[in-house]
Amino acid sequence: MTHFTDIDDLTSDELADVLTRAEDLKERLRHGTAHPELAGDSMAMIFEKPSTRTRISFETGMTHLGGHALFLGPNDIQLGHGEPIRDTARVLSRYVDVVMARMFDHSDVTELAEYASIPVVNGLTDDAHPCQTLADLLTIRELTGGFDASVAWVGDGNNVCRSLIKGAAMTDLDLTVATPDGYGPGRDVLDRAGDLGGSPTLTDDPDAAIADADIVYTDVWVSMGQEDEREQKLAAFEGFQITPERLGDRPLMHCLPAHRGEEVTDAALESDNAVVWQQAENRLHAQKGLLAGLV
Ligand code: CP
Ligand code: NVA
Repeated sequence: MTHFTDIDDLTSDELADVLTRAEDLKERLRHGTAHPELAGDSMAMIFEKPSTRTRISFETGMTHLGGHALFLGPNDIQLGHGEPIRDTARVLSRYVDVVMARMFDHSDVTELAEYASIPVVNGLTDDAHPCQTLADLLTIRELTGGFDASVAWVGDGNNVCRSLIKGAAMTDLDLTVATPDGYGPGRDVLDRAGDLGGSPTLTDDPDAAIADADIVYTDVWVSMGQEDEREQKLAAFEGFQITPERLGDRPLMHCLPAHRGEEVTDAALESDNAVVWQQAENRLHAQKGLLAGLV
């Protein structure tokens, strides 16, 4: 593993190692045992889009590991003012030990990785959110004891869904993806899932997807950067909202932030079925497991 631009930059064995390390680090944190695996190391965090969980979990995680993280927003570095990605990659490589980047275009993160001589971690692009998938897999394992479970994805087939599809293929998790017509995950990711030994069931019927599922997962209908498509997307996703009635007694996952009243009702998110806070916490542990192996 050199970079983490998507979940399948890891082999299945490496993914298992990251999750095991994450569980171990979670236990050590719970018991107050120091774990300065990255003492003296620095991480640059490039953000083209806003973030609560990604920023705070990475920054705090580096502190737990004995390292240091630098927040670099759009107006903080020359990248936001025209300095090329390749130059940024080469300069950062001379200062820090790892770069985490949240960018619009996935190709911008892969270009960073191409020119960096240090590991590059994808903190979300329009096409992928592999750090979320790590936390999701950790959460599913905590909930069910393994990956012998079925998950119904109900919502947009973009970044979070796409990385989950690959992660499910790598862990033999049974995944059904319900999206409105035209908002599916894309042929490329389905082909890649096939190469990884799995393939999600696709449908445009949320209730059919949920019927046999152990766990339900949703995400916002209007992702960061899609604000201009808002009206069109709200119309396309009508009928896909997760309500307590639809959820039944299944756990509800959501990467957050949630848009209550759109993809999920307030009652569903506030119910005891929602495991979203555990899922958000697991971003911290999962990413520490990743960084401790990568840096
Ligand atoms: N789930 C997630 O990535 O949240 P943030 O946008 O707050 O980082
Ligand atoms: N699909 C959402 C995920 C946020 C973590 C977005 O891209 O805005």
